[in-house]
Amino acid sequence: MGTILDIQDLTVHFPISIGTVRAVEGVNLKLEEGEVMGLVGESGCGKSTLGFSILRLLRPPGEIVGGKILYHGEDIVQMTTEEILALRGGRIAMIFQDPLTSLNPLFRIDAQFTETLLTHEKGLDRKSAFGRAEGMLESLGISPERLLEYPHQMSGGMRQRIMIGMGLILNPDLLIADEPTTSLDVIVEAQFLDLLNDLRKQFSLTILLITHNLGNVAQLADRITVMYGGTIAETGPAGDIFEDPLHPYTQGLLASIPNIKLDQPKLITMPGSPPDLVNPPPGCVFHPRCPHVMEICQSDKPDVLQKGGRLVACWLQR
Ligand SMILES: Nc1ncnc2c1ncn2[C@@H]1O[C@H](COP(=O)(O)OP(=O)(O)OP(=O)(O)O)[C@@H](O)[C@H]1O
Ligand SMILES: [Mg+2]
Repeated sequence: MGTILDIQDLTVHFPISIGTVRAVEGVNLKLEEGEVMGLVGESGCGKSTLGFSILRLLRPPGEIVGGKILYHGEDIVQMTTEEILALRGGRIAMIFQDPLTSLNPLFRIDAQFTETLLTHEKGLDRKSAFGRAEGMLESLGISPERLLEYPHQMSGGMRQRIMIGMGLILNPDLLIADEPTTSLDVIVEAQFLDLLNDLRKQFSLTILLITHNLGNVAQLADRITVMYGGTIAETGPAGDIFEDPLHPYTQGLLASIPNIKLDQPKLITMPGSPPDLVNPPPGCVFHPRCPHVMEICQSDKPDVLQKGGRLVACWLQR
């Protein structure tokens, strides 16, 4: 098993009228082949910006201003437009929150699958493409007859399944799923996460699962990365993070979800609000909200320390 994605010191900025939004600031993240990495953190911490950067899909004025994104050793940041387009169509798939905006309402589902296949796979005929689409629907647990329907004829959960099928039809090895279940109700959401787990094995996928729902990552992720204010607070095996979070922000996040730990006496909310990324606080970005803040936290960015299989950016761990 090798490293499929190796993000090194990635920095992404949005220059806006009032200054520069430091959405991602010096992020390091590795994805090993076949794993599901859960990327969590509260709204605005830079999760989607990181996800979009991997496919160079940042919306203007977003710009990668530093760092590398090595995919099988090749730097995506340096790729030409053609190379990027090939990557997006084939080896890396991305699914988003709202499947209706990503499926074309004017075309039947079969057309959306076959067009994708015929565009990317030279020499493929329409009949075989249709066959491939039928096979994909079976993998998704949807009756192949539904290929003849339009997106609006399907439920939200089914559309989300179709979206993931569209992503997988060209056999990618990396799937980036950004809040894929936000628009689904809890039952459909659970089914979708089960499906994702099946597909992951069936298609030997590596998955970056972006979500603010820690329940989702608990169900699926092998490892978890916790982001805060454009930086990484902590990365490690999911079990370790849930059992014994090292970073005070991770501790706060876990304490603020009910039912993960049944012995938890009461629900705790984290005081304060996320940092202003135009004027982030000096030192550790979490220091204004940290219950354990020390002098050094207010002036110096914490070093990233290795603790067993984990990485944590916190002066407390020194
Ligand atoms: N097009 C844009 N122009 C200016 N700032 C932006 C733009 N897109 C994102 N940002 C800023 O970048 C920061 C990170 O946003 P991002 O969408 O990556 O967060 P997120 O973790 O995905 O949040 P959420 O959980 O709400 O999806 C935020 O401060 C956001 O306001
Ligand atoms: Mg987001």
